[in-house]
Amino acid sequence: MGITIEGLGYYTPKHVLSNFDLEKMVDTSDEWITTRTGIKERRIAKEESLLYMSYEASLKALEDAKVQPREIELIVLATLTPDLGFPASACLLQAKLGADRAYAFDISAACSGFLYGLEVVGSILASGGAKKALLVGAERLSQIVDWNDRSTCVLFGDGAGAVVLSSEGEGELLASALRSDGNYWDILYSERCGYIRMKGKELFKLAVRSMAEVCEEVLQKANIRSEDVDLVVPHQANIRIIEALAEKLSIPMDKVYTNIHKYGNTSAASIPIALCEAKQTGRLKRGDIVLLTAMGGGLTWGACLLRF
Ligand code: ACO
Repeated sequence: MGITIEGLGYYTPKHVLSNFDLEKMVDTSDEWITTRTGIKERRIAKEESLLYMSYEASLKALEDAKVQPREIELIVLATLTPDLGFPASACLLQAKLGADRAYAFDISAACSGFLYGLEVVGSILASGGAKKALLVGAERLSQIVDWNDRSTCVLFGDGAGAVVLSSEGEGELLASALRSDGNYWDILYSERCGYIRMKGKELFKLAVRSMAEVCEEVLQKANIRSEDVDLVVPHQANIRIIEALAEKLSIPMDKVYTNIHKYGNTSAASIPIALCEAKQTGRLKRGDIVLLTAMGGGLTWGACLLRF
């Protein structure tokens, strides 16, 4: 379906927490974290609320697209760490932006939230329900991380990424494949107001296998060979997951965008932050075939193939 990413923006918090800082907090080491995950540091929101990060990312995306807030007719925000129980974070963002013509709601699909959002927003744009939309992935995971649990606290970070999407333009959502399996809910979850709990080893294996399957499915659906993909922007959870996925897909790592060393796993924010960085650094160009894929709590997973 015709869907163009007209503008991209991201915001990451000012405070940097390095692996060396974590060595002082729990029994871990920079060497362990780097070799097992690829993460060197992450950003932690000390002052910044989810709304603040989402707003800053959205302003940049709107500026990049040269679109005014009043032109936006739909706002979808993917998060598992909202500032309030309700209303939706998207409504707070709508008010702060002054996007008074937009209707707004949140999506809860953990690390796959941005991809679920792309499919939902794409379908609404395709049906004529809106012409321009804002899709945001934002997380303040530091709030739900158990800072005494070394097996999880080294992995996560905070941030927000946003895109302005339009039903006009040259871009296309060529194919998507989204999946959920609630039988695996206890592999990655938090209790209400509780901390992230995770079975890392199981998740690792499921992540590689499941993301490879949906990536192959979207390539097949769009009749595009893996060698014709210009850039893969995967969810940034673990560099070893990303490398194993690239190998399964026979796509060289120089076609895979990674920034996990700087931000860790920012869940729903990870793909839009990476997409935006890829554009800003010249790795992503108009007309490129881009493969996005993610997996997260739910379990949820998916892949989307775009002509950028
Ligand atoms: N520092 C030092 N040692 C540690 C740490 C740490 N931070 N964390 C765990 N260890 C220890 C363990 O206690 C264990 O010690 P033991 O052998 O004495 O029992 C040892 O290191 C090995 O632990 P494993 O859990 O087997 O390590 P593994 O190689 O599986 O790596 C990791 C763990 C990094 C969590 C990996 O399994 C992973 O990345 N899984 C995917 C998790 C993930 O990405 N979750 C996020 C959302 S889902 C998604 O986005 C795909």
